[in-house]
Amino acid sequence: MTAEPLERALDHDERLTRPTPLSEPPPPLLRTARESDLPELQRLDEEVFREVAYPAFLLRQLYDLYAEHLLVLDDGDGRLRGYVLAATTAISRDSWILGLCVTEDRRRHGLGRELMEEVLKRLRRCGTARVRLTVEPANGAAILLYRSLGFCPEQPGDGLRPDYFGPGEDRLVMCLALPGGD
Ligand SMILES: CC(C)(COP(=O)(O)OP(=O)(O)OC[C@H]1O[C@@H](n2cnc3c(N)ncnc32)[C@H](O)[C@@H]1OP(=O)(O)O)[C@@H](O)C(=O)NCCC(=O)NCCS
Repeated sequence: MTAEPLERALDHDERLTRPTPLSEPPPPLLRTARESDLPELQRLDEEVFREVAYPAFLLRQLYDLYAEHLLVLDDGDGRLRGYVLAATTAISRDSWILGLCVTEDRRRHGLGRELMEEVLKRLRRCGTARVRLTVEPANGAAILLYRSLGFCPEQPGDGLRPDYFGPGEDRLVMCLALPGGD
C-alpha cells in the first residue's frame, strides 16, 4: 500500500465532505408578460417600489393597453425578478418607459440593460421615433443605465422638472431618438 502524502489526503477528505460552493443562479428568462403574471407582477412592483408601486387596477389596465411592451424576467420557479413597461402613443410616435426594475438580489448582472435593450428594439420595430422617461434626480444607477443607452436630459434646460409629480416630486425627463423609428 502506498502512503498518500498527508496534504493530498486532507485535500481528498475535504473535497468529499465540504459542500460544493453555491453556484450563481441561472439567468432568468426574458419574455412578454402574460395575464397570469399580474399577481406576481404586482408583488414584484410592491417589493421594489413600495409606496409608489402601481395599484392593482392600474397595473391591470396598463397590461390591457401595452401587453406587447410589458416584458418580464421569469426565474422559472413562479417568481419574476424584473420587468420593463413601455407605453406607446399612436399620434406623436412617442413612447414612454413607465416602469423598470430588477430585484435587489439580481442587480448588476446586466439584466436591467437587457430589459431596456429588448423593449427599445420592439419600440423601434413598431415605429416609435422618440422614447421618453422620468427618473428621480438622485437615482444614479438608473440615470447611468439610461445614459449608457443614449438617453439625454430633455431640452430645454437640463431635463429637471420641479414638482413634476406634485409638490417635492421633482423628476428628470430624459429622451432618446430611435433611428429607423421615423
Ligand atoms: C436601475 C436598475 C433597473 C438597474 O438594473 P441592473 O440589472 O442592476 O442594471 P445592469 O446590471 O444592467 O447595469 C447596467 C448599467 O447601469 C449602471 N448601473 C446599474 N446599477 C448601478 C449602480 N448601482 N451604480 C452605478 N451604476 C449602475 C451601469 O452603467 C451599468 O453598466 P455597467 O454594468 O456596464 O457598469 C435597478 O438598479 C433597479 O431595479 N433599481 C430600482 C428601481 C429603479 O430605480 N428603476 C428605475 C426607475 S426610473
